Amino acid sequence: MQITRGTLAGMLAALAGLALAACSPAATTTQTATTPSHVQEAAFGQTADGQAVRQFTLTNAHGIEVKLMTYGAAITSIKTPDKTGAMGQIVLGFDTLDPYLKGVPYFGAIVGRYGNRIARGHFTLDGQTYTLAINNAPNALHGGLRGFDKRVWDARSFEDDKGPGVEFTYVSADGEEGYPGQLTAHVTYQLGADDTLSISYEATTTKDTPVNLTNHAYFNLSGDVKKDILGETLQLNADKFTPVDHGLIPTGALQAVANTPFDFRTPTAIGTRINAANQQLHFAGGYDHNWVLNQTAPGQMTDAATLTDPDSGRTLSIRTTEPGIQFYSGNFLDGTLSSRGVAFTHRIALCLETQHFPDSPNHPSFPSTILHPGETMHSQTVLTFGVAH
Ligand code: GLA
Repeated sequence: MQITRGTLAGMLAALAGLALAACSPAATTTQTATTPSHVQEAAFGQTADGQAVRQFTLTNAHGIEVKLMTYGAAITSIKTPDKTGAMGQIVLGFDTLDPYLKGVPYFGAIVGRYGNRIARGHFTLDGQTYTLAINNAPNALHGGLRGFDKRVWDARSFEDDKGPGVEFTYVSADGEEGYPGQLTAHVTYQLGADDTLSISYEATTTKDTPVNLTNHAYFNLSGDVKKDILGETLQLNADKFTPVDHGLIPTGALQAVANTPFDFRTPTAIGTRINAANQQLHFAGGYDHNWVLNQTAPGQMTDAATLTDPDSGRTLSIRTTEPGIQFYSGNFLDGTLSSRGVAFTHRIALCLETQHFPDSPNHPSFPSTILHPGETMHSQTVLTFGVAH
């Protein structure tokens, strides 16, 4: 049963939530745990400067569970069933805030103001040259030294006829990390009864600014972080990709994937060609590239990627309104980070970051990432969790 806010049932559920909150100061529930889908909220520690961080748990009628936190508006956990019905953790994450505060490579976070690289941290807009922090020498990466992944977002949970969700809001100051204009960003996650996780992005600005927001979850559909992702198969709906230089900055060309290790137009195991003698793979130490999605029209929701783990049967399909997707094969994971005694080693998980192309502010031929005052940037990515038998 779905409960819509404002109905009598919804009000009763909210009252039940209040009653629960009174018993337990750390946790509140907007609906009783016996309803098929719900959202729960709990304290999740605090930052070094004393900001409280909260965690939300979204659950649907099939038991799919997504955890989100206000630090980085990040996904900290996704649990889905395998072909036997056993639930497994399919993203890299931690049970506590501390490891995130110590530093993680964008685990599950929203990256911004500009996801991906901007060459040498420079771009020119309206005749003015802007200088960003160089945090991935010699380039700027994922919004700078303290990007959106390292900020505490405001949050509001809700439940409507599509399912439980959380809307996160962050106001990025004019000049923050070198970017022009005050940017107000809203990111809404919603878990559907149809086993979808929708991620909707909206942004407005007070001055012209580049914006490129994405989610940086690391997936391993096996549910076993001792097993790398080389045996998982990937399909990408892209005839072209944007080749890069040795610093992973696009050359500006759109290159056909045909007859290259970048051709994922039919499902292919990730490990099949990852070590091929290929300069592009060599530059990145594997896959860390942007594919140009075969969109029917700009901004049109398009199939982007399907990831399948043949052993567990778990599948992940991604649709998006964005023109590109960065497939990163976890090449920089080196075992330094671990959870519950299991190290996150080389290629133990992968990212599929729907986005505009890297370094777009310096490539006028790429789809524009410039947001103007008075406009609202809208973008949506939908993940569908499934099982192949
Ligand atoms: C992105 C980049 C990678 C790497 C990871 C984080 O996917 O493209 O090069 O920086 O983030 O380690």
